[in-house]
Parts: sequence; C-alpha cells; structure tokens
Amino acid sequence: MSLTAYNIITKKRDGFTLSKEEINFLIGGYAKGEIPDYQIAAFLMAVFFQGLDEEETADLTLTMAHSGDMLKFDDLGYVLDKHSTGGVGDTTTLIVLPLVAAAGGKIAKLSGRGLGHTGGTIDKLEAIPGFRTTLSNQELKNQVLDIGLAIAGQTGNLVPADKLLYALRDVTGTVESIPLIASSIMSKKIAGGAHGIVLDVKVGKGAFMKDINEARKLAKLMVALGSLVGKRVTAVLSDMDVPLSKAQGNTLEVIEAINVLKGVEGRSKRLQELSEVLATEMLALDSSLDTTLDFPKGYNSFVQVVERQGGDLSKLSLSAPFKEEIITETRGYFSDADALAVGKVVRDLGAGRRVKGEKIDSNVGVLFNKDLGDEIKEGELLATVYASNKNQLDEAVSNLREVLVVGPKPYDKPVVLEVIRGGSR
Ligand code: URA
Ligand code: CA
Repeated sequence: MSLTAYNIITKKRDGFTLSKEEINFLIGGYAKGEIPDYQIAAFLMAVFFQGLDEEETADLTLTMAHSGDMLKFDDLGYVLDKHSTGGVGDTTTLIVLPLVAAAGGKIAKLSGRGLGHTGGTIDKLEAIPGFRTTLSNQELKNQVLDIGLAIAGQTGNLVPADKLLYALRDVTGTVESIPLIASSIMSKKIAGGAHGIVLDVKVGKGAFMKDINEARKLAKLMVALGSLVGKRVTAVLSDMDVPLSKAQGNTLEVIEAINVLKGVEGRSKRLQELSEVLATEMLALDSSLDTTLDFPKGYNSFVQVVERQGGDLSKLSLSAPFKEEIITETRGYFSDADALAVGKVVRDLGAGRRVKGEKIDSNVGVLFNKDLGDEIKEGELLATVYASNKNQLDEAVSNLREVLVVGPKPYDKPVVLEVIRGGSR
C-alpha cells in the first residue's frame, strides 16, 4: 500500500496498527503544512475510537517532539523537570523546584500561562514586581550552572505539531483521548531536554482527568513512554477535588508558597504535603542526590532565583481595592470546596483568562482562612475575597457562599493518591 494520508486514515479507522513511517509521514507532513486539517481531523477521530498502542504512541510522541526545536542541556549534567496537568491553587512549582535546587538538583524549567480555571507558573511569578520570565537559552543555562534553577516562559519553536494538533482536537471533540493527551504532554517534556521528569497528574472536579482509573491509565502510559525514549519518569496522582492551597490568585499564591518554604504557622497543609512528595520523587530520579529536604535552604534558593531574574520580594504585596470576609454561620468542619467552582470564581475576579492573551490582575483572589478539614466555630472567619470592583466582589462572595461547605465531617481525602515510578533506574 502506498504511503498516503488516505491510506493511513482508513488503516487506523479499521483498527490496524500503524508503523513509525506512517505516523511520521502523516504527522510530520501535517507539521510541515503538507497535509490539510480535514485529513488530520478524520485521523484524530479514528484514533479517538480505535486508540493507539504504546509503540504507536511513542512514535507519535517522538514525531511531535522533533517537529520544532529540541533543547539540549547535556553540558549541565542530569537535568530534572516537573509538569502538572493543571489545577486550582497549585503553587507546587514555586516550592518544589527551590527545594530540589537546594538539594543539588539541576532544573531548567519552562512554564506556561494559565488558561481557563487553572493557573500558570509564569503568571504567578510575574506577580513579583520586576521578575523577568523571558530568558534566552544561554541565560537559562548559565543560571542553572550558577544556582541550579531557572524558570522561564516558553519561547521559540517548541513542538509546533502540538500547537496545531491541540487546536484541531479542541474543535473536533478529540481532546479526551488518553494516547493523544499522553503524546501531547510527553512531546513537550522530551523537547524540553530534561533527563528525569516528575509528572503531577491531577484527578478530580478541578482537573482535566475527573476519574482515577482514567488518570492512572494516562500516568502509566506517560511513564512507559518516558522509558521507551530513555527518560526516567515518575507520575504522582494527586487530588484536585478541592483547591490545593488556601490561596488562589497570583499574588496570594506566591505569598503562600513563601509561607510554606519559610514554615510559617497556618500554612497550607495539603500544598506542603504534595510539594514534599514531588520534591522527594524528583531528587530520587538523580541517583547522585540525597533526597533529604531542607526548607530554609529551599527558601534561600527561591530568593536567589527571584533576585537573579530581577524580582523584588520587598515589593510583593496584595493591594486589592475591595475586600470582604466570609464568616461561618454554623460550627463543624471545613468539609468541601469544589475546585472547579472555586477556580471559576477566581478567574472571574480577574486572576485568570477566559481567552488566550487576556490581561490578568495579580491582586485579586480568594484566601481560605481555614484549611480543608479544619474544625471551625460559628462566627469564625472562613475565607477572604479580594476584588478590583464591587460587582465582582459581590458575585464572588455570593458564589463562594454556595461552594464553601462547613459540615459535620472534615474533608479527608488524601492529597497524594498514588505514585507510579518508571522501570529503569
Ligand atoms: N495537556 C496537554 O498539554 N495536552 C493535552 O492534550 C491535555 C492536557
Ligand atoms: Ca512499530
């Protein structure tokens, strides 16, 4: 059979396994503009129904990774990376990476911006006055050599095939396919050049994956893909039914990350616990490192990165013109807070984006004054809302009154659900 888009589409439609050459031809050709959207749309739907086996998914992942720039950090030694599938109040990157760098790990982190109800690390860092998130590849490398850690926004031409495919999946009902999600995430990690990768796969109401069984399948596939391409990958499945942190909104989240690093009383327990697990798993990937965590050293490493990238922590403060406190009316426990609903409230306050490129406000957000699971008495402060105008404040407060539940039972789902480690180490 000759190598044509038509033949490859019908072969997958009929449930056969594709060769590496066929996948290269189709997806490589699409990235070069040689194959039209409508044929790839049909192919994606065929994959949605027929699936891809592990080897086909690895072939797809590598073809995608090679569609643009491939970063190489070989002169830095063993380089680590971390990726989260996206959540609410997920500030772990700002805690985990400094902890890992303080223990001798090397991390060249490329991060994204938030979209929808989930946040992005670059938006959070830009809440620190002066912080520069645009670094050249050389600056990134030099900083990792000097202090072990640099965090920058994605620039250049990294995995253009994923940008094209994701946009097409988004409008053709083919996002929710495990091999397509796995290849999308892993192609970016592979092009990013790290040797060891920890994936935080969020599960629950505020996550991309709502179901633990689906999340486990995705995690296992990504770990297997890593082994197939010579990377050490560990996946941590973590709960995203509720926000991870007491703080949601960019400035509030940076302050909370600092509270965890400094060990401030009342800091978010779930955020701390997940950060510890992620940091330990990252350190375990580099066999030359000890996995002991030192929070004061981690805080110093965070300060070093901020200073090196031009940020001024003394100017980090919350200055929202409108504020309202939500007081508990019954005694009990902080027993639930739907992460998706909270994420939407925070986005609508102006902390996140509805569409790409929208301007965001660092100062708005929601701070829980209690942690999920805490006991709470009548008349005690449950949450504080920070807004830039009165209408948004009122709407957020009224929505949160429905979403924040004080009940007879504490929220007790563990934050770390499972850890899946790759084979070769
Ligand atoms: N995140 C990604 O980067 N890609 C997907 O397909 C889904 C989530
Ligand atoms: Ca094959």
